[in-house]
Amino acid sequence: MQEKFNVIKQEAQEAIRKVSSLAELEEARVRFLGRKSKLASLSATFSGLEPSQRPEAGRLFNEVKVFIAGILEEKKKTFSFSKERIDITFPSKKTDTATKHPLSSVVRTMCHIFEAIGFEIQEGAEIEDEWYNFQALNIPLEHPSRDAFDTFYLDLPAQGKYKYLLRSHTSPSQIRLMKKRKPPLAFVVPGRVYRPDNVDASHSFMFHQVEGFAVDRDITFAHLKGTLLYFAKHMFLDEAKLRFRPHFFPFTEPSAEVDISCIICRGKGCSVCKRTGWLEILGCGMIHPNVLKACGIDSKKYQGFAFGMGVERIAMLKYGINDIRLFFENDLRFLRQFYEV
Ligand code: DAH
Repeated sequence: MQEKFNVIKQEAQEAIRKVSSLAELEEARVRFLGRKSKLASLSATFSGLEPSQRPEAGRLFNEVKVFIAGILEEKKKTFSFSKERIDITFPSKKTDTATKHPLSSVVRTMCHIFEAIGFEIQEGAEIEDEWYNFQALNIPLEHPSRDAFDTFYLDLPAQGKYKYLLRSHTSPSQIRLMKKRKPPLAFVVPGRVYRPDNVDASHSFMFHQVEGFAVDRDITFAHLKGTLLYFAKHMFLDEAKLRFRPHFFPFTEPSAEVDISCIICRGKGCSVCKRTGWLEILGCGMIHPNVLKACGIDSKKYQGFAFGMGVERIAMLKYGINDIRLFFENDLRFLRQFYEV
């Protein structure tokens, strides 16, 4: 009797090991535990046994039945596990989608606005030399106006008398483009600039600017005003007004600083505009003849306008951000608020 049970046990073990699908597993269950199984027919012979042998036979029967049911169950688990792994309808784990940095979104918006009125977008170089950053922009090496453009110098062997530096503004990209291309020219150049400033709520040693300029015959200050007003209306509010204040920049003449009517209080006066109703947003002017000359453009035939603005400042105004450091600290709680993919 013991022997017969052992044979059934072994047969079942081997057959179930080879099973490769749930359907086959069901067949094996019927074969080894069903009404017509060897185990069932063996139990039918118990009535012919000596009464004293019956309990032992019953115990063996149960043991084998439980054993086979156990290995069937184990095998089943391997199928349900692999089934789960290929269930493509199963909801996926939540993943973090990257979003654009607010400065990237603002630069992109600014570029789109200027592109729509015919400006071409270009990038300049972050490493310049003194000629591009100063000299060609009518800021002579020894001139005190250079103090206003304090600079990171690079530890590279100078070419001639002009040392290498990290550009302190995007204006040198005007020089590069004017030397390379012939008028008519209309470019907008976004990029990083560097100044050795102490970091605080409104200063950073690295920040972003957008430079723009146009050169052609008969370009006037009116073209500059029209361009900037178009920009202000699209970037901020359709009812935005601009105010041009006379100013000095070495590379433009005449030069102006431009204020926009406060976009928070709409010109009525609030704490952001310090009750003036105006916010300064950029510098601009008519390109100085010396700058055109440095680039080999005949200043008698051609005129141009130029402007430059800080991207952080525009972004801070647009979104009501009060600390420039927030842009650079990589705090996701801040960055996630600008949900643009
Ligand atoms: N480069 C100036 C700065 O960094 C900004 C600027 C002013 C750019 C007037 C211009 C301009 O093109 O015409 O402060």
